[in-house]
Amino acid sequence: MSKLFVFDHPLIQHKLTYIRDKNTGTKEFRELVDEVASLMAFEVTRDLPLEEIETETPVAVAKTKVLSGKKLGLIPILRAGLGMVDGILKLIPAAKVGHIGLYRDPETLQPVEYYAKLPSDIEERDFFVLDPMLATGGSAAEAIASLKKRGAKNIRLLCIIAAPEGVEFVQKAHPDVDIYVAALDEKLNDHGYIVPGLGDAGDRLFGTK
Ligand code: URA
Repeated sequence: MSKLFVFDHPLIQHKLTYIRDKNTGTKEFRELVDEVASLMAFEVTRDLPLEEIETETPVAVAKTKVLSGKKLGLIPILRAGLGMVDGILKLIPAAKVGHIGLYRDPETLQPVEYYAKLPSDIEERDFFVLDPMLATGGSAAEAIASLKKRGAKNIRLLCIIAAPEGVEFVQKAHPDVDIYVAALDEKLNDHGYIVPGLGDAGDRLFGTK
């Protein structure tokens, strides 16, 4: 079974409070999501492998470390996932960014992919799938399946807020994919919103409604 990590770093928790606040406007909401995504990237990359190299400082040769594992790819799920990209790229500027768009079929209620543009070297990368809200888990599970179908092996899911229903759904569908969140909330309501959540992340990021 995949693992669920809830990041309890004080800076993440502090910023999350203002992300949740209904009085936070679009500009500040966007900035806070960006900052939380950076902080989450810092935490989620803790276990990346390193190798030792020698570096000449102005004084002597130092044994130093550089990242040695696979290159990284970020996959925001359209559209709210876009809000997390820049914050992560600030720390991992060499990551490539693919996009996956899904809509819900009104009859089957299943997510259907309408757009996918992914890095061409999928086998050579590890992936972070990004979606601020893990609600039912349907979109995230479908996006992960789509990546796997194209050859991705090592995938992590990064969300700001998750509902228990979404975590369970993704864990069942993808027991190999660990999930990283800033908060695990109470439940989904009848409209599919996370409670207490933050409302519609896409609308709040882009000022639509
Ligand atoms: N998507 C959102 O943006 N918010 C929710 O609460 C659930 C899904």
